[in-house]
Amino acid sequence: MQKMTVSLVPSGLTSGASTLRGRNFLEVTDFTAGELERLLQLSQYLKVQGRGEQRTLLRDRTLAMLFEKPSLRTRVSFEVAMTQLGGDVLFAQGAEFMVGTRETPEDAARVLSRYVDAIVVRTHAHEPLQRFAHAATVPVVNALSARAHPCQALSDMLTLRERFGGIAGLRVAYIGDARNNVATSFAEAAVLLGATVQFGCPPTHRPSESYLAKLDALGSRSGGSARAFTNAVRAVRGVDVVYTDVWTSMGEERYRERNDAMLRPYAVTEELFGYAQESAVFMHCLPAHRGEETVAGVIDGPRSIVFDQAENRMHAQKALLVGLLTELKGLPV
Ligand code: CP
Ligand code: NVA
Repeated sequence: MQKMTVSLVPSGLTSGASTLRGRNFLEVTDFTAGELERLLQLSQYLKVQGRGEQRTLLRDRTLAMLFEKPSLRTRVSFEVAMTQLGGDVLFAQGAEFMVGTRETPEDAARVLSRYVDAIVVRTHAHEPLQRFAHAATVPVVNALSARAHPCQALSDMLTLRERFGGIAGLRVAYIGDARNNVATSFAEAAVLLGATVQFGCPPTHRPSESYLAKLDALGSRSGGSARAFTNAVRAVRGVDVVYTDVWTSMGEERYRERNDAMLRPYAVTEELFGYAQESAVFMHCLPAHRGEETVAGVIDGPRSIVFDQAENRMHAQKALLVGLLTELKGLPV
């Protein structure tokens, strides 16, 4: 169970050998645009491939899932993905596993690397996860930390690719807490793949200028870029996609009152959504709070694709697991 050397060379889409094997996926930017595209291609292939054909892809592999926070989608989609690929899963949560509580993140990672082939972690602070991943000798996947939610972003890109045929050239608005984990990972993936991201948020929840510049730099090859508007209507006007998430993320409950007050004008109502293109779609990572960051008329409306996003978690994570654990032999990527 040896972690392989990380390739810093973009793989593009043409290379036959996997450069993903043995890598970690803690943030979207751990992968190049070419590697993300390749995973999306594989996700689409696995989504339509027969179950029987998949049952051998990860036979005899074991995935550990360690969760410090609650989860419905991430937990179940990873478990079903691994099971359908022929592997085994073990799940630990709460007091059974807290990164860096009973022992150092490094010790926990070294021990677990002797038992399993890959580790998926949902945690609070990102830094202990980085220490954990650095010490592990098997691939470590971030299943949500305070900083990033890269698996959600992978699924979101798959959903947009299916819906629009590609990501490049899309205009997407992210409304609400533009600094949270979902906003960060979604924006990074979107600009890497050539979309324009327009954040609509109050100054208290606005990405820093240096972060916006980082997003522009990430998008420099693909034509992607990012900007932020205090006026929600300006952010949404004419876009192809409107995305929002809860106003208060897990672990941030002490800021709930302030967030409710600051983010109320950024609720994605029918009126605000009406400024987007007529063909625009609504996205949300779920779980959602109707009457807060959005309303039933939008999230339950005909242009909401939130359940496609949720389903695609499983397909995208299948591709991720196969990419991290195999050479992709016999697969059309
Ligand atoms: N979107 C998402 O990560 O959902 P869960 O918190 O239910 O896993
Ligand atoms: N931003 C949210 C996403 C939940 C999937 C949170 O961290 O709670």
